[in-house]
Amino acid sequence: MKPARPELDPLYRLWLHPSPGPLPGASPTQIAEAEMESAGRRATLHLDPSHTELGTDGFEIGPGDRVIATTEKGLLSGTYRWLQEEAPRIEVPRVALRMLQHWDDLDGFVERGYAGRSLFDWSTLPDHPDPRLWDYARACASVGINAICPTNVNAAAEVLRPAFLHKAAALADLLRPYGIRLFLTARFSAPMELDGLPTADPLDPEVRAWWTHKLAEIYRRIPDFGGLVVKANSEGQPGPQDYGRTHAEGANLLAEALAPHGGRVLWRAFVYSDQPSTDRAAQAYDEFAPLKDQFLPQVQIQVKYGPIDFQPREPYHPLFGTLAPSQAVMEFQITKEYLGFSSHLAFLASLWREVLAAPLDQGAVSGAVSGIVGVANLGDEPSWCGSLFDQANWFAFGRLSWDPELAPASIAEEWVRLTLGPDPNVAGKVTEMLLRSHEAVVNTMTPLGLAHLMGSGHHYGPAPWADDLPREDWNPTYFHRADREGIGFDRTATGSGQLLQYPPGWQARWSDPATIDLNYLLWFHHLGWDHQLTTGRTVWQELVHRYHWGCREVAAIREIWAGLEPFLPRAVHQPALEKLDIQMEESEWWRDACLAYFGSLCRRAWPEGYPQPKKSLAEYRAIRHEGIAGDPAR
Ligand code: GCU
Repeated sequence: MKPARPELDPLYRLWLHPSPGPLPGASPTQIAEAEMESAGRRATLHLDPSHTELGTDGFEIGPGDRVIATTEKGLLSGTYRWLQEEAPRIEVPRVALRMLQHWDDLDGFVERGYAGRSLFDWSTLPDHPDPRLWDYARACASVGINAICPTNVNAAAEVLRPAFLHKAAALADLLRPYGIRLFLTARFSAPMELDGLPTADPLDPEVRAWWTHKLAEIYRRIPDFGGLVVKANSEGQPGPQDYGRTHAEGANLLAEALAPHGGRVLWRAFVYSDQPSTDRAAQAYDEFAPLKDQFLPQVQIQVKYGPIDFQPREPYHPLFGTLAPSQAVMEFQITKEYLGFSSHLAFLASLWREVLAAPLDQGAVSGAVSGIVGVANLGDEPSWCGSLFDQANWFAFGRLSWDPELAPASIAEEWVRLTLGPDPNVAGKVTEMLLRSHEAVVNTMTPLGLAHLMGSGHHYGPAPWADDLPREDWNPTYFHRADREGIGFDRTATGSGQLLQYPPGWQARWSDPATIDLNYLLWFHHLGWDHQLTTGRTVWQELVHRYHWGCREVAAIREIWAGLEPFLPRAVHQPALEKLDIQMEESEWWRDACLAYFGSLCRRAWPEGYPQPKKSLAEYRAIRHEGIAGDPAR
């Protein structure tokens, strides 16, 4: 059931002024005019193609409230930004592709979604689009997002059926004036499923002809179609390896069909083989690095920020800096699959910026990509994102993909001011909450470089003991490797060797447990429980310390918010406080379950001054959950 009149909810407005509502058929300039009308303020708009330094998307905000751009979409971006901040300046995006990808199934289910059902109700398209889609488009445009993919990477072949393309074309028409291009996901076996071809082998002439015709059909309907997003030979999805072909041969098949139309393929590097023989963290690099010169120019490789899977903290993926910048697209997850769903506060700009700022041999990771995509955290709940603070992550994603050098603090300040107003009693405190939040979540779940300790399948709550999944490398025990003697995954030259995929500078820094940043310690090293750290604590004591520190941070963040009650509308304050209460409970659950488990293995003395887990390990292990949001095994 769709919520009735979601626009009446105070959170619906996001960081924006009141919406002008649906504007079917309006040009970007007309939209800009309507937005200014609705905000009650006016700038003058100047279209001036001679300002080539602004490119097609950039703009100048000149003195006297003048917005200048070379294209209408630049004018619209400039208008949104002027409405957010009037100070004269030039803004040109540093990253060409800034894209939201929705993991939405055609029936409305959102994989790893914690904010209701899909915003895209295909049954109403093409003729009666949900008015909310215009508010979605303006929110994206207001932070510089210039592309979306509304369909799940675990793709249905039906996305490419004519009847669906007819609907998708209506969505593309709606998004176009906002400067947003549509992409779709492609299931590699679509030629077989839709038209009964006997194979989907990328070298088969009939298969090649099928894709050529399919793309021509798409471009007839959607002339500015962005291209295809593909998850192939990953987690059971079909792909070129089913026919003994490489990822390059698979991607190039689609690239050739897209080339005459100017589209591109975003081919995902989130792959790991069916037969885990090596370190899972090493597999995408092993698979893609040797192929990097074989991809056609229309192919971009979409790489998750870290080598495993959107964990609360990961070192950057070594494919960045290995692939050419024009070839590499970074994938973030805005939906918090591994960071507490929509009930925990985790401001993700901190995490994303940490990865983007990592230095490479030349420049930083941020300079090694030409696109940034984010897995959307959106659904049909009135708050769009499931909570107030998750709206900050949608905002931060747009701002950071426009300029990956922005400091999380300035993004946070901007979001707080636009969303909650300039009240000095509120602004500084909420900014502080946001900036402390990511580190708190990391420590309540996976401190010291641990990863992948969550419950199986639904990924809700802690289950570091889980070891019963069919694949070894799906189990938390595979990732933490804890036993009576020690804990951690040795990825150094004496272990899996995955560290050797990084440039020499990083290898030097990370190969020695004495010099490595402790935040990555157990990611790269297996150490004895009594190993002494630079903090003066042993590994076991440090683990206990960090889990407790994380929970104290969450409590402190909750207290700050509780104290803001007199300054905020109840309808804004109360639901966020309830979420922080859930976060408190769940953080303590994480801490106590993990420490009860690791403590049972290491059997060391409990460090003084830290309360012991509230329940027994057996009680934590007995906790079962069903019907959790976003679980694909629904
Ligand atoms: C994670 C997530 C899946 C998703 C996959 C992907 O493993 O749990 O739901 O399909 O990432 O990125 O393809």
